[in-house]
Amino acid sequence: MKTPNPYIPTKALLRTIFKMSEDNYLFQFTVEPGTIGRCMPGQFLEVWIPGVGECPISVCSDSMDGLIELCVHRTGRVTDALFKMEEGDWLGLRGPYGTGYPVEKMEGNNIILVAGGLGIAPIRSLLQYILHRRERFGDLIIAYGMRHSLDLLFRHEMTSLYSRNDMHLFIGAEEVDFPEIPPIHAQLGRVTDMLRMAQFDGTYLAAVCGPPVMYPFVIRELKEGGITENNIFLSLERHMKCAIGKCGHCFVGGVYACKEGPVFPLEDLRFIPEVVECVNC
Ligand SMILES: Cc1cc2nc3c(=O)[nH]c(=O)nc-3n(C[C@H](O)[C@H](O)[C@H](O)COP(=O)(O)OP(=O)(O)OC[C@H]3O[C@@H](n4cnc5c(N)ncnc54)[C@H](O)[C@@H]3O)c2cc1C
Ligand code: FES
Repeated sequence: MKTPNPYIPTKALLRTIFKMSEDNYLFQFTVEPGTIGRCMPGQFLEVWIPGVGECPISVCSDSMDGLIELCVHRTGRVTDALFKMEEGDWLGLRGPYGTGYPVEKMEGNNIILVAGGLGIAPIRSLLQYILHRRERFGDLIIAYGMRHSLDLLFRHEMTSLYSRNDMHLFIGAEEVDFPEIPPIHAQLGRVTDMLRMAQFDGTYLAAVCGPPVMYPFVIRELKEGGITENNIFLSLERHMKCAIGKCGHCFVGGVYACKEGPVFPLEDLRFIPEVVECVNC
């Protein structure tokens, strides 16, 4: 029997577009049930726009079969073309790919989620996963940092979380604060300042996603708080092409980020430039 071509995408209907900020939109797609499998938090899809190309984008919700949400920052060729599409248009999706956050290991434990900027996309998927199964997890903390409060993504959802009594939310921006959120939950400051406000200890597992520049600082805070390297999980976004471990574009520090990652425990990242200085910190 002929092996199916792994590069052929599934046809996806662009159902809804939400503008979250000037250059960050939430796109909702539907695909035929069963064509794109269950997307776990931290996994990604390849988005294909005919005549333009492909790029990897993280799933940003605890997806149901057939419905897919992607939070996209307009940055280059493919994302620019996606931003020009309209509801009712079609494109291609393939995946899901990669390892997600280790939700089974996380069950029964206290969890701290750490997001910087667009890193909230896969972290939101994990957050929804946990909230949909809240009784299976222990204490829950979210530390979410961004440059400007106007960059707060999923604003309505995020600002409504602070009133929940089963989790602790810390949102920080480097410029301007958030008048709609009480200061105990949202302040001027970086994500590391938010981590210092949060009370966690070595009983927590941490899931982190954000720009590489934030990783050493975040890792230092998490380790100072008592979390060990095997309980810190980072998403590493590398330049990717095939997404299935064939082309070598994402090969870094001895691993294929597309296949063995993008989520790794810190203890496996001793040779990755953005975290190496922190392995012994
Ligand atoms: C696992 C994974 C998950 C991801 N998840 C998300 C997500 O959820 N949301 C999201 O928005 N993004 C996500 N990304 C990032 C996204 O895949 C990249 O931003 C991707 O490059 C966008 O494709 P593009 O064609 O629009 O941009 P590209 O055209 O590839 O441009 C990307 C960047 O490179 C620069 N660039 C392009 N060509 C050149 C050149 N010739 N010389 C110099 N600079 C150049 C551009 O200015 C831009 O800053 C993810 C990436 C990975 C690996
Ligand atoms: S993207 Fe081709 S090997 Fe990872």
